[in-house]
Amino acid sequence: RFAYVNGTYRPLRDAVVHVEDRGFQFADGVYEVWSVFDGRLADFEGHLTRLWRSLDELRIDRPMSPEALARVLKETVRRNRVREGLVYIQITRGTARRDHPFPAEGTPPSVVVTARTLPLAKGNAAAVKGVAVITQPDIRWGRCDIKTVGLLPNVLAKQAAKERGAAEAWMVDEMGLVTEGSSTNAWIVDEHGKLRTRDTQSNILRGITRAAVLEMAAKEGIELEERAFSVDEARRAREAFYTSASGFVMPAVSIDGVKIGDGKPGPVATRLRTLYLERAR
Ligand code: PDD
Repeated sequence: RFAYVNGTYRPLRDAVVHVEDRGFQFADGVYEVWSVFDGRLADFEGHLTRLWRSLDELRIDRPMSPEALARVLKETVRRNRVREGLVYIQITRGTARRDHPFPAEGTPPSVVVTARTLPLAKGNAAAVKGVAVITQPDIRWGRCDIKTVGLLPNVLAKQAAKERGAAEAWMVDEMGLVTEGSSTNAWIVDEHGKLRTRDTQSNILRGITRAAVLEMAAKEGIELEERAFSVDEARRAREAFYTSASGFVMPAVSIDGVKIGDGKPGPVATRLRTLYLERAR
């Protein structure tokens, strides 16, 4: 496998960044993840636009033009011979002697790109059966709309899920409302049959898959509302699922051990998953 590191492609074992990289020392950086189908990056523009926005919000210099970056991403996919899998990019504020304020102007950002083959279709096994989710308090900061590499609360939440045999942790605010998953956006089909997901003005990531699913659901004539739901509403829901670039639409069949609906993936989640995969291909 090969990685792109600050201008060159290297074998993964030699692909290293400096110990004083600000991503390493301060989590002072951002990232994006694309899925790859038939060698093509799904929702290419959407993720690229969000990456620029994340950089701008944190005042990290754009390392190159969108066209140049697109070439790097595609070349990394090609060199790793990925037909189906994931591409990861991380851009940090660069390398400088450890000091909290931004480094001197002109310090180049660090750019790392990796790609790996992952049989995404295999995720189907989980999607057919449905997965378990647990809930965790949302202990993150106030700018979850920025896709930063500062993911410690997400890591702790996902680990808690893993230790309890669940695939994802849904984070819950102080009002008892679900914000989002540790690496996914959270959805239910409520007891009245309405598709619901939290609005993006309230400290969550504006998921690219979320946006695609909203668009597809509207086209399907599914009644939907961008409004937060409580853990209680999720427990009583007909269906639950979550979305991300790496898992697409994943049906959840229990929350904290409580069965959702009949304990099987529901028709809305199943339909939206099928539509998303058709669209990505
Ligand atoms: N995670 N919410 C959070 C906190 C996320 O980290 C992600 C993505 C999403 C879904 O966004 P999108 O549909 O644009 O992938 C929601 C990526 C996949 C990750 O961390 O690996």
